[in-house]
Amino acid sequence: MEHATVVVSGTKIAEEISSSRSEVWRLIQQLRGLGVDVAGHPATGYQLRSVPDLLLPEILRPMLRGTIFDAHLHHFYKIGSTNTAAMAAAADGAPEGTVFLSEEQTAGRGRGANSWQSPRSTGIYCSLIVRPMSPPSDILVLSLAAGLAVQSAIQSVDSRVKPDLKWPNDLLIDGKKVCGILCEMNAEATRVRYAVVGIGINVNQASFPKELPATSLRLVTGSEWSRVELVGALLKSLDREYGQLKRDPDARESILQRFAQNSSWVFGKRVRIEENGAAFEGTTEGLDERGFLRVETAHGTQTVLSGTVREK
Ligand code: BTN
Repeated sequence: MEHATVVVSGTKIAEEISSSRSEVWRLIQQLRGLGVDVAGHPATGYQLRSVPDLLLPEILRPMLRGTIFDAHLHHFYKIGSTNTAAMAAAADGAPEGTVFLSEEQTAGRGRGANSWQSPRSTGIYCSLIVRPMSPPSDILVLSLAAGLAVQSAIQSVDSRVKPDLKWPNDLLIDGKKVCGILCEMNAEATRVRYAVVGIGINVNQASFPKELPATSLRLVTGSEWSRVELVGALLKSLDREYGQLKRDPDARESILQRFAQNSSWVFGKRVRIEENGAAFEGTTEGLDERGFLRVETAHGTQTVLSGTVREK
């Protein structure tokens, strides 16, 4: 990584990986197919034209020293879903702080039955394992904290961009979705065994299908973002939020307060809620102590536990 863009001969690479020059050529072609910009050929040697914006553990680890995320970083070029992989790894005993990152997902999952578009090396597809000593009802607060962490990571990279937090776990810019969060868990009635926080951020997409109300950080700012910088900021910010949640008894309260302060959806928004096949309308009236959304309706205050919230 320190001399990433020098020219290296095929012979030297072959020696270093105990292989042949023709195998090196084959591997270089494979890297090019994956989008890595390598100049040269067997006669001249090879050179990276620029350090690729790949979410490689070797690049991320130095940025994550001192967090719970620096020890078990897993990177894939292609995977079905990082959440599915993380849930399976957690079931097999993977420790808290294990992170799954992929350049591309072929079966990215959203909330409910939704899918998550995950084109290669344009977005961030990240899932991490936590093992909180808490009841399942606390996972909502964890997912609200993840939203705050994404918001602050984006702002730390470009202070002009402040996505809105839409309860429970979307981030929007100009009303269009820029990030979705999918928290999944395995729990007993009173105790979480493990949870996976899955985060999808639209970073460098140049366009979206017309029918998708989505945007990317690049579309909003007009320039490419470094995914490496953003993932680094994201994992540091998640480490802070999660660390506080584990250590500080007042952290829950702080998360609920900060979520309300940084979201235009929590107070005074006219909304339509669809929940369990029924629908109702009203005005949002804050979060309850568990993080559920309270809505003032013509028939009194209702608490939204799992429904879809739309602006009216
Ligand atoms: C939603 O808005 O419905 C949640 C979307 C969550 C997408 C992320 S991308 C990384 C992780 N892996 C998945 O399959 N889903 C989450």
